[in-house]
Amino acid sequence: MFSAYLAIADDFRGELAQFLKDRPDQAVVVGSSASLTSALRDCARDNPGVLVVDDRLVEAEPGTAAGLAAAPYPIVIIASGSIPQATRLALQVRAKDFLTRETWQAELMAALDRTAVPLYPRDKKLGQVISVFSSKGGVGKTTIAVNLAVALAERRHEPVAVVDLDLSFGDVAPMLALQPRFDIHDVILSGIDPGVLKAAMMNYASNISVLAAPHTPEEAEDIAPPQLVKILELLREEYAFVVLDLAPGYQETNIMGLDLSDVILTVCTPDVVTLRTVGQALTLFREDFRYPAEKVRLVINRTGSRTGIERSDIAAILKTPQIFELPSAGSMPVRHANQGLPFITQEPNAPLSRALTTMADALADDSAAQATLRLRRLVPRSRRH
Ligand SMILES: Nc1ncnc2c1ncn2[C@@H]1O[C@H](COP(=O)(O)OP(=O)(O)OP(=O)(O)O)[C@@H](O)[C@H]1O
Ligand SMILES: [Mg+2]
Repeated sequence: MFSAYLAIADDFRGELAQFLKDRPDQAVVVGSSASLTSALRDCARDNPGVLVVDDRLVEAEPGTAAGLAAAPYPIVIIASGSIPQATRLALQVRAKDFLTRETWQAELMAALDRTAVPLYPRDKKLGQVISVFSSKGGVGKTTIAVNLAVALAERRHEPVAVVDLDLSFGDVAPMLALQPRFDIHDVILSGIDPGVLKAAMMNYASNISVLAAPHTPEEAEDIAPPQLVKILELLREEYAFVVLDLAPGYQETNIMGLDLSDVILTVCTPDVVTLRTVGQALTLFREDFRYPAEKVRLVINRTGSRTGIERSDIAAILKTPQIFELPSAGSMPVRHANQGLPFITQEPNAPLSRALTTMADALADDSAAQATLRLRRLVPRSRRH
């Protein structure tokens, strides 16, 4: 997987961005512009895995050629003009490859795979990113994210990170009675210095760490998708599981978190309004974001609340067989949250705690199976049995 920035003229940018967004397992688009000057400025900050450049923009802004030639990230040109002219340009800006507008669809992914700097080292064991999402607020995302993280750490004896991506109104830290000295905003201000990130990862228990949301909604506005890519890239190298507590809705940072996740737990409660918005979310994931079916799981929270809607109704309405169910536990979760304690350690035998533990085991087993599959894919063909 690699990140790409697109410096492409308006008449072609949307089509190219969509082409890459249709391949969420391979590429993540971290930005785009029709001005090469702005593109170079953005890329100096975000250092993408590859910059895809429309040759017409270099012709329109010839002063940018020197900046392109000196760029530390690879460049791939898509040429609308003649091939000799594009070849000259590619040599001038030291592009790693160039394609033409006639054949780009057939050749682009191979060219980018060959040239782009991968987001993650290919041979390193990486943590699983699990996001907890809902299009609706107040359905139990944070409660699930925090207790799931604790369950994963206890069951697997591996380090787990919780990242509070409800950037404006995050409450992961108070739910664990943590008062972080540094938060994600400090990490961004440091230019994502690994040392500052380490300092900001606040230990809850020996193998659970929390990256807290900013202090204020104003600070949340300073956080952009490319910075999240970098943070998650670093965390995946250190933690076996990275649990993202997302904000309700579809802001850019949320979508980047969703794109980078291995598994999305989409939380729904058994009421008609939530079912409708969650149904829309599942359709969006399937049809617009083109996420693979196994990436998206539905979590029905607060089952048994006697709302008149049954599990079978929900499965039929939402057309998804991948369901985890978490029972309603009355005031038990809020009581423990008020004391800053995860209920899963305080009342491990409560039905809700047991259901969460079963979910944690299933997700961890899936993650192990996927890691084996990834390793198998890395074995050269001739060595496969
Ligand atoms: N299964 C459950 N049984 C009983 N109460 C629950 C359950 N799940 C969550 N709650 C309670 O529901 C309330 C909302 O939960 P939570 O804050 O986790 O939701 P959220 O989706 O993160 O909300 P927001 O969108 O505001 O971030 C809390 O008081 C929590 O204790
Ligand atoms: Mg929340």
